[in-house]
Amino acid sequence: MSPTMTLLDRLWEDYASLNPQAGAIHRLLTAEGERVVNDHIALRTFNDPRVNIDRLASAFTAMGYRAADSYEFPEKKLDARHYEHADATMPRVFISELRIEECSAGLRQRVSALLEELPPTLPASPDFPVSGRPWSLGFPDYRALADESEYAGWLAAFGFRANHFTVLVNALKKHPTLQSLNVFLKSKGFALNTSGGEIKGTPADLLEQSSTLADKVDVRFNDGSHTIPGCYYEFARRYPMPDGRLFGGFIARSADKIFESTNRR
Ligand code: NI
Repeated sequence: MSPTMTLLDRLWEDYASLNPQAGAIHRLLTAEGERVVNDHIALRTFNDPRVNIDRLASAFTAMGYRAADSYEFPEKKLDARHYEHADATMPRVFISELRIEECSAGLRQRVSALLEELPPTLPASPDFPVSGRPWSLGFPDYRALADESEYAGWLAAFGFRANHFTVLVNALKKHPTLQSLNVFLKSKGFALNTSGGEIKGTPADLLEQSSTLADKVDVRFNDGSHTIPGCYYEFARRYPMPDGRLFGGFIARSADKIFESTNRR
């Protein structure tokens, strides 16, 4: 097994154990005779130089991933970049980071306190993308962070791990459209993110996406356990470009709404 597969497998194991719905949907599709192909894995971080996109990406670039397109989400104060592997069977890796300097003094101070607890050798470790939460966190601090930025709250509570995996809908035989897949998932009791409509993007954008709402999971804080939104499962259908190859990038205004799948409700 290649080291790359090992990291991706570990990201999946961590993600599926934290989020029972992901494993359940994966098993449902497999039971339908589908082969589940992973379109991309998404991770989140802060733009602090100790942990920014470049640092989080290094475990992937060491395995042959290369930076592709960049994206901006000014409203959510996020930047993102996606990485691709020369081996087209490898999923894309989508990494976003929060522009800390655009946030309030309170948020900056809280994030700075978290990063003070970061083990200095962690970002250089090949395990960094699947290392989880390397700091302690009080629930009031989580709430204050999430009140200002749901993204910051999620990242503070869960740390460095997959935020979501994504099923490539093109590879499904029984549900090759998002419309059909969404009906199937809802019939099985899964709630979908309806922010911006169930399906984000259009065939003209060359990318359509939908996602579940994040599972609620128990997280341990300094002052005990609390139930908060965890991760979600995403579904993407890609369309061919004029040259016949499938579009391989992302659409910022769609991703902007997908980020809201981990909002508290
Ligand atoms: Ni995604």
